[in-house]
Amino acid sequence: MKADILLGLQWGDEGKGKIVDVLTPGYDIVARFQGGPNAGHTLEFDGKHYVLRSIPSGIFQDKQINVIGNGVVLDPILFQEEAQALELSGVDIKRVLKISKKAHLILPTHRLLDSAYEQLKGSTKIGTTGKGIGPTYTDKISRDGIRVGDINENFEAKYAVAKKRHLTLLKACGMEVSELELEQKWFEGIEYIKQFDLIDSEFFVNHALADGKRVLCEGAQGSMLDIDFGSYPFVTSSNTVCAGACTGLGLAPSKIGEVYGIFKAYCTRVGSGPFPTELFDETGNQIRQIGHEYGAVTGRERRCGWIDLVALRYTIMLNGVTQLIMMKSDVLDQFEVIKACDAYEIDGKIVRDFPYSIDREIKPTYTEVKGWNTSLTDLTDESQLPMEFVNYIKFLEDRLGVPITIVSIGPDRKQTIFRNKTQLS
Ligand code: GDP
Ligand code: IMO
Ligand code: MG
Repeated sequence: MKADILLGLQWGDEGKGKIVDVLTPGYDIVARFQGGPNAGHTLEFDGKHYVLRSIPSGIFQDKQINVIGNGVVLDPILFQEEAQALELSGVDIKRVLKISKKAHLILPTHRLLDSAYEQLKGSTKIGTTGKGIGPTYTDKISRDGIRVGDINENFEAKYAVAKKRHLTLLKACGMEVSELELEQKWFEGIEYIKQFDLIDSEFFVNHALADGKRVLCEGAQGSMLDIDFGSYPFVTSSNTVCAGACTGLGLAPSKIGEVYGIFKAYCTRVGSGPFPTELFDETGNQIRQIGHEYGAVTGRERRCGWIDLVALRYTIMLNGVTQLIMMKSDVLDQFEVIKACDAYEIDGKIVRDFPYSIDREIKPTYTEVKGWNTSLTDLTDESQLPMEFVNYIKFLEDRLGVPITIVSIGPDRKQTIFRNKTQLS
């Protein structure tokens, strides 16, 4: 068998959690491959609302095994909080979740370093989630990190070495730390992690595929936040594109099957950095209000704008997307006209390929599409979709070159419409 991947094509928060949950019954294993508690993946079903941060979104279905892969960075404090909340709501988490021994640990000092580096940047700060993501991946790459598999071997000594180094760095940044408030809770979190099945996830996933099991890899963030291809330096510190699933789970490229690319019918971004189609007017506010565009974890206001097809074509190419999933279509229900940016105008020239830098003056060139002006939220079948909405889908498929096989029309699991691929022109 080959593993399928679901990942975000924009700047994160596309609705990955919802769709992974919807697709999970078709899989045996759901595995996260990168990122950490910077993610906030929302799931809604049976009138309940859950936000997952480090735990894969397949966790609510009983029969599947969920894996936190080696590419993930794990904060023991936040993980314990998240896992215990799931235990309280009836999830037998220690049975259904396995953690890679090669996943790196986020230390309390990593969070402080994240904040110190942001302060040093001043007005050029990235607007990180403050969860220590950058400093933890930095330690991984500089070969200073501590991994989950270290917790049973000489762990306190390894921790002490890392802490000492971090305190020196913090001092150099002008942040004197005398006592680490979170340290006790962090060690409690480590004890909690010890109760889980800590595995060599590369063997687990590859053996499962060899045994005919179906694996879904769940991305975090979005391709425009990728460390190599995103709007650098306003990005996260991992490879969010599908290559990240190869390194973050130990999967060979030949083992990749479908790549589901997920995007909103418009576009959002949280944190700093360029955003060519951002709207600063009433339309932007309207999208924010109707779409409840506030961070799932931080509550930060998300910046809103029209869909950016230049950026989408780029991320579809980078990921080799085989199927597209369009989210939050219902948010545009009331719009008479919907705009889609098909090209950028830069220095008087029309640019259709995503440029090296978007941190410059860019005038989006918009194509206008007629809105459907009716509520989609209660529809249950493809045949009920209004003509103007189908036209919008066809327009996007034409410009993006990949079929849209799923459309989401509300936050609930049930508000999902599967399209018949064979009907696509
Ligand atoms: P993720 O990080 O990609 O999993 O996405 P988030 O959970 O951060 O953000 C998506 C938000 O949109 C959540 O609040 C979801 O409940 C909500 N959502 C998902 N799909 C839809 C949809 O089709 N329509 C509406 N109105 N909301 C949706
Ligand atoms: P999900 O998985 C949206 C953004 C932050 C910031 C930048 C770097 O829910 O889609 P970091 O803390 O990673 O160093 O922050 O990346 N960011 C996200 N934006 N959704 C996310 O995750 C994000 N994770 C990080 O706002 O701009
Ligand atoms: Mg999110």
